[in-house]
Amino acid sequence: MACWKVSLFLPTFLLLLFILILHPSSSEARPKQLEPLKHDGGPLLNGTVKLGILWYGRFRDSQKIVVQDFLSSLHAQTRVPRPTVATWWRHVEAYRGAIPGSRLRGKRIPRILVNVVNEKTDGEYSVGKILTHAYFPTLAGKVTGGDDSIVAVIIAARDVSVENTCLGQCSIHGVLETGRGLFIALGNPETECPGDCGWPFFPSTIGPQVGPPLIPPNGGIGEDAIVMSLAGALAHSVTNPYGNGFSSPFGRETMEAVSICNKVFGTGAIEGFAGRVLATRFKRHYNANGVRGKKFLLPAIWNPVKHKYVLAMVLDGNGSPYEFRIDSKHDDAGRGFENLKILKLGLTPPGTPWSLTTSRAAHALDHTLSDAVENCSP
Ligand SMILES: *[C@@H]1O[C@H](CO)[C@@H](O)[C@H](O)[C@H]1NC(C)=O
Repeated sequence: MACWKVSLFLPTFLLLLFILILHPSSSEARPKQLEPLKHDGGPLLNGTVKLGILWYGRFRDSQKIVVQDFLSSLHAQTRVPRPTVATWWRHVEAYRGAIPGSRLRGKRIPRILVNVVNEKTDGEYSVGKILTHAYFPTLAGKVTGGDDSIVAVIIAARDVSVENTCLGQCSIHGVLETGRGLFIALGNPETECPGDCGWPFFPSTIGPQVGPPLIPPNGGIGEDAIVMSLAGALAHSVTNPYGNGFSSPFGRETMEAVSICNKVFGTGAIEGFAGRVLATRFKRHYNANGVRGKKFLLPAIWNPVKHKYVLAMVLDGNGSPYEFRIDSKHDDAGRGFENLKILKLGLTPPGTPWSLTTSRAAHALDHTLSDAVENCSP
């Protein structure tokens, strides 16, 4: 069974990083280096990606509409104010141009269209309320009719649990046990680890919480966290459909396009803080606009092509966050910094010996965080 997961290790990793910055002497505590995503020789999804969506259990119509609007927003370029969902999807499409030896390098990358070809609701819980992998082929068949070119997306209602979600991952994707067909299964973020899978709309239960939870843009975790989770799972399915696309080992975990940027939603994200996002007049939080005036909060995605600058936030000796920006170039292998240069320092608390602090931070970044935050585009 091939499955790749959305990991919880990055927050722990970031926490360790900040401990490292505050106590540079404890170098033995230096966290394991996060490798940039690498392509493993396999195909990515391209052209038109056909989805069959199975709503497993009972959902409100309003939940389905929000998810449908999110999917329609992936290609909506016109009349949507920036930042758009379509721009976010551009990052997913960019992976194709990042395949080593790709003739598309530096060229215009073809669009990947997402087309919902079938959508059904299993309101009678036909295989019960605990979904194990063994049921996936049957459930997928309900929306693919056995057509392996359709990706089955199984979305669990709040009274259904999905095997292997809620154990450090909120969604799973991979190849069905019975053949070549692909599936995505989403645990329900309202009931399956909301303090993880519903974060930042729900207080964190797996690490620190900086400030109050964010307010979901469309009314509830029940729709907005499903969109968040679906966005990540779709990106993973496109960029690593068969487990030999873009990924990165991290201990026993496998990081993918979105999980490598775990818990980053805006610039300045740190452990427990999602980063700076936008807010509507009614204080609902979002970072991407979609069709029909809809707003969504989408997870940051690793940009495999751009290697330009770092925006990061570090804590000073008193634990107050401040921001700095580093201009950097990558060496030819796409790893590490050349010409590390502090461009700008903002929000520095008065009295901070900034040159010392930033050089420490830069050192820590250079050796640990490096590509991780840098390439995560919210
Ligand atoms: C595009 O998809 C086809 C199969 O549908 C596959 O053979 C090909 O390798 C894919 N292209 C890339 C760049 O992954």
